[in-house]
Amino acid sequence: MSSTAEELYRPGLEGIIAGETSVSTVEQDDLAYRGYTIEDLSKHASFEEVAYLLLYDDLPTQSQLDGFVAQINAHRELPGPVVDTLRAIPQNVNGMDMLRTAVSMLGHFDPIAGEGHDQDVERAIHVLAAVPTMIATRLRLGAGQDPVSPKPGLSHAGQFLYQAFGSEPTALHEKVLDLTLTLYAEHEYNASAFAARVCTSTLSDFYSAIVSGIGTLKGPLHGGANEAAMEMISRFGSGPEAEAWAHHAIANKEKIMGFGHRVYKNGDHRARILEPYTRQLGEAKGEQFRVDVYDAIKDTMWNEKKIYPNVDYPCGLAYFFMDLPIDVYTPLFVASRVTGWAAHIIEQRSNNRLIRPRSRYVGPAIRPYKPVSER
Ligand code: ACO
Repeated sequence: MSSTAEELYRPGLEGIIAGETSVSTVEQDDLAYRGYTIEDLSKHASFEEVAYLLLYDDLPTQSQLDGFVAQINAHRELPGPVVDTLRAIPQNVNGMDMLRTAVSMLGHFDPIAGEGHDQDVERAIHVLAAVPTMIATRLRLGAGQDPVSPKPGLSHAGQFLYQAFGSEPTALHEKVLDLTLTLYAEHEYNASAFAARVCTSTLSDFYSAIVSGIGTLKGPLHGGANEAAMEMISRFGSGPEAEAWAHHAIANKEKIMGFGHRVYKNGDHRARILEPYTRQLGEAKGEQFRVDVYDAIKDTMWNEKKIYPNVDYPCGLAYFFMDLPIDVYTPLFVASRVTGWAAHIIEQRSNNRLIRPRSRYVGPAIRPYKPVSER
């Protein structure tokens, strides 16, 4: 594209409005899913209500919620070939790579016939139900244990913890996982939702769009930050040790994972909501020194860079206190975000236009072709 006065270019599309959405609003002062603030949802709603809200545009009545939960429960068991695939994937493969393959495989056994809005909602429920079973199955197989079948009557969060550990979770663990699923569910035109929309805009299929989202979420600048942040926290045995490292890292212009955000410059609402629970889990676990490490890095980032933590920072440590292995943190982000991706896929389809921007050309000017012998 030739350079013109009208040309609008911002690296990373920063600040560019790339489309319209009614799924969520991400502002400095509030985050809301379909008009309901994240404060209200995280205080009052279960993740199942939030998932319904994202997929059906409004909160459910009790009978709608009961029907939705029954539908999720009906889709929890994985098709046999998907379980075989989970067994075949080497244990050292990254958890997000495992999910990318497993969700793709699930698409080959799609029980939903036909195309359309209602079929996409059903597919969303199918994937929403299957992903936690995939993560838990993989965990069990990795530990040399048999997969655990779903147990009727548990919440979505409780179900995952039951299938992962083989016993029912404490009320605190169930609450915190439910909360993180709510906080992670949706975030407007973030990189992975945008990837899912780009894929959808070509009229590709639902599963391909979800797999595009998974591949994009994996990176440590996006969802992979919860694992990277916890790996960082786990390296230190005390607050002063972490503080000394953080000064050094900042002086060396290193990126500190779990901090900063493209949109939020006054702090991430989700991190503020989650942090008290992370502290509570640390107390319950009797590992105050890890909370000291958490605070030392957070305070140093604030004192030196005036940068706040994003949701991945308290989330990594919360999952760690719940005895979840680090490799499942970003997959658990997927377990939640599939609802947001699905809402964006459905919205994109309802008013589709191929997403195909232009680039600014910075390569060589037109030049003559030379035969190999003359190069
Ligand atoms: N550590 C150290 N410095 C940082 C960080 C960080 N985590 N984040 C931003 N900065 C600094 C940059 O170095 C830059 O400083 P400079 O102006 O002196 O060069 C300034 O803040 C602006 O940073 P950018 O990278 O330009 O901001 P951008 O909007 O591109 O980045 C991003 C947003 C990618 C999230 C960035 O903050 C980052 O890399 N954070 C770490 C990864 C992370 O936690 N990602 C999770 C995001 S939330 C989510 O996906 C759920």
